[in-house]
Amino acid sequence: MEPLKLIRSTQLKEKPADNLGFGKYFTDHMFVMDYSTEKGWHSPRIEPFAPIELSPAAMCLHYGQEVFEGLKAYRRDDGGVQLFRPLDNFKRMNISCRRLVIPEFDTGSALEYLLELLRTEKDWVPSQPDSSLYIRPFIISTDPYVGVRPSSSYKFMIILSPSGPYYPSGLNPVDIYVERQYVRSVRGGVGEAKTAGNYAASLLAQSEAGKLNYSQVLWLDGIERKYIEEVGAMNIFFVTDGKVITPELQGSILPGITRRSVIDICKSFGIEVSERRISIDEVTAAHEEGRLEEVFGTGTAAVISPVGSLNYGGKIMEIGGKHIGPLSQRLYDTLTGIQCGKIPDSFSWTVPVC
Ligand code: PLP
Ligand code: COI
Repeated sequence: MEPLKLIRSTQLKEKPADNLGFGKYFTDHMFVMDYSTEKGWHSPRIEPFAPIELSPAAMCLHYGQEVFEGLKAYRRDDGGVQLFRPLDNFKRMNISCRRLVIPEFDTGSALEYLLELLRTEKDWVPSQPDSSLYIRPFIISTDPYVGVRPSSSYKFMIILSPSGPYYPSGLNPVDIYVERQYVRSVRGGVGEAKTAGNYAASLLAQSEAGKLNYSQVLWLDGIERKYIEEVGAMNIFFVTDGKVITPELQGSILPGITRRSVIDICKSFGIEVSERRISIDEVTAAHEEGRLEEVFGTGTAAVISPVGSLNYGGKIMEIGGKHIGPLSQRLYDTLTGIQCGKIPDSFSWTVPVC
């Protein structure tokens, strides 16, 4: 592992006191590492958070050859800081790299570099309830070239943002629009990679749904527009007849780390989760028959987000009287309890920072 160089900022920023929102503030330092064909990944460093220099011809700006991740550092009650499943994020990032023809990196070294960055920025980890330090690793292609081919140079960066809940409504249920016109991805595409283009492709549907006061869209499969995939920034779960179901990983949705954790927590509660194809008609029928007990999304930013209603073709399905359901609440308490160190981590998911 190449040693990390630390260039300290001489002008430290004032930390935001309250009303963090999500992803608006950035810490004093960031991590940067470069890639070239001759040297591979090299020159890891922590340097002041600042604009970067990029050629206007840089390939990432034209063809979106980039990948990113999202994870969080949590403040424990004893003042310490810990991470949740960070190696899973770096492993998934390498899987995204493979799909986007970006050179893979050593996940163990990336974790060490992240730990060092967090130790430098530990005072930025907020301690207000429901807040954390959101961590955004990403890789961009930097060759100045406008032909279409994989770049031969890249930048791997990590920036940090003290954040509160992703949805302004916090743990209050969100209303979701089931998208029938646009699709997010198809099997064989890049839907299961965490790459910018997936999010660019989602913006029109999201902004049209936003005009109708829906915070996110629920995507259906790209071929039949019949099977449930995921929500803009989270995976989705349904509770019907006391059973928990979630769409299987079939190649077009993001394999969420929170999704996997929720499945394992449910198992520890003695609740089986079935990962399978779920049609929107099945959900509609369950709702009509009064069997749709709870719907919730899962994600690093979104944590456990109860869904209060689904709009499918103008038909509004209200869920659980628009209140958080008992399983959603229990999962939220358990997951955030483990993440913040309030509950013993019997799964060995947390990694101490300091
Ligand atoms: N699906 C999409 C499209 C996402 O952007 C995210 C967030 O990262 C998720 C699902 C949830 O994934 P995770 O639980 O790993 O954050
Ligand atoms: C996350 O949950 O980490 C995400 O990346 C979601 C989002 C902000 C795109």
